[in-house]
Amino acid sequence: MAAKSPASVGRRFPEGFYWGVGTSSYQIEGAWNKDGKGMSIWDTFAHGPGNIKNDDNGDVANDHYHRYKEDVALMKSIGAKAYRFSIAWPRIFPEGTGQPNQKGLDFYIRLVDELLGAGIEPFATLYHWDLPQTLQDKYGGWRSKQTAKVFADYAGYMAAQLGDRVKHYFTINEFRSFVEAGYQVIDVDVGGGKKVRLGGAPGLTISDSELKQVRHHAVLGHGLAVQAIRAHSPAGTKVGFAENISVAVPVIDAPAYVKAAEMVTRERNAGFMTVMLEGRYTEAYLAEAGGGTPKFTEEELKTIASPLDFVGINVYKPRWYVEPSDEPPGYREIPLNASHPKMQSSWHVLDPEVMYWAPRHMQKIWGARSIFITENGCGASDVVAKDGRVYDSDRVMFLRACLGQLQRATSEGVPVDGYFLWSAQDNFEWIDGFGKRFGLIYVDFDTLARIPKLSAQWFREASRQNAVV
Ligand code: BG6
Repeated sequence: MAAKSPASVGRRFPEGFYWGVGTSSYQIEGAWNKDGKGMSIWDTFAHGPGNIKNDDNGDVANDHYHRYKEDVALMKSIGAKAYRFSIAWPRIFPEGTGQPNQKGLDFYIRLVDELLGAGIEPFATLYHWDLPQTLQDKYGGWRSKQTAKVFADYAGYMAAQLGDRVKHYFTINEFRSFVEAGYQVIDVDVGGGKKVRLGGAPGLTISDSELKQVRHHAVLGHGLAVQAIRAHSPAGTKVGFAENISVAVPVIDAPAYVKAAEMVTRERNAGFMTVMLEGRYTEAYLAEAGGGTPKFTEEELKTIASPLDFVGINVYKPRWYVEPSDEPPGYREIPLNASHPKMQSSWHVLDPEVMYWAPRHMQKIWGARSIFITENGCGASDVVAKDGRVYDSDRVMFLRACLGQLQRATSEGVPVDGYFLWSAQDNFEWIDGFGKRFGLIYVDFDTLARIPKLSAQWFREASRQNAVV
């Protein structure tokens, strides 16, 4: 065994920590109409002129559907011990419900077998936004409770089919993103008479009160899916969600500030995380919702808060800095300075400390006993250099800083069991099309050639040493 560098001693993660990478179906698979797959709302949205930068779409994407063997081998070569992928619901149920499509299921069985053969633990996400188009047409998507119910049927079916191979499931990825972006699309004026559309599939704009009902149906879908997975999978199967937590960072690391940050985090995640973990909407959330909305029953709240085996949080950036206040509600949110540093994406405010506070808040506020960082990473302006390599030094800096903060959390006893870097490879970045690169592996979208970046080298060593390197 190679010697450990002295620097990594004391910067190690707990034994058995999962070093993982993540992707999602629509962003990498391609094969959008192959082997009986039905249309998803993202197929429809991306085909709509002007919705995606350069009118890109995911029809071919990384062609992972046909190149999964090469991709699994690459993941193994860069030190991934776990892989978080998502299942395209319309590949399994082309109409959302009814008759399953064996060929679609076979793809995921082949993929999982390839992963297990490579010693990579599969973590399956059941919904990463590619809703069957039929459910959008028939029920209005997540505007209807019916979608939550059929999502659970599909989740139970997958757990039964993959139960002998897949031991970890995430129900839904980023409730906040697909609800807020998909149901409140906005056109932003970028000057010179040009407008840019911000949002995603299904590309609707509904009222605030209806939006709250959509949120409710999404968390209800999660709760029903947890129950369905438990009912159809072997003992020992684990289930949780993967939510992009809105994180408040205390301006000063002192008790009153930390308390204020915890209060803000609990309140600002009220529509998703808080109700899933507490089984109730906060008073402030209901008051803001105008009393009557969202419509829910006590029974539904119990379902939404079905016990979980772990929580998954996607952590990219701080949402607020906070300080305590003598005025109600007891805290004050501090605006971020215009000169606050950012990574490449305009939304990506930089503060690696968020990787310490996010899991610590999960433990302190909700008593979480098993936490996964289900996404963390950054976009960068990656290019292939003359020598054929990709020198993403900013990503290496970002990862080392974030993982350093995560190690600080685990060393203080915050129960983080694994980390999934977003993303295994460059892919279709939603409305940015192929214009944003988040991968450890560079993809040439003309030839589909894959090139591991400098950051992949870094990741491999961190995984090998189980430490910040
Ligand atoms: C997360 C998503 O929001 O962030 C991923 O779960 C996405 O699917 C990633 O690719 C990067 O976000 P964006 O908006 O820059 O593509």
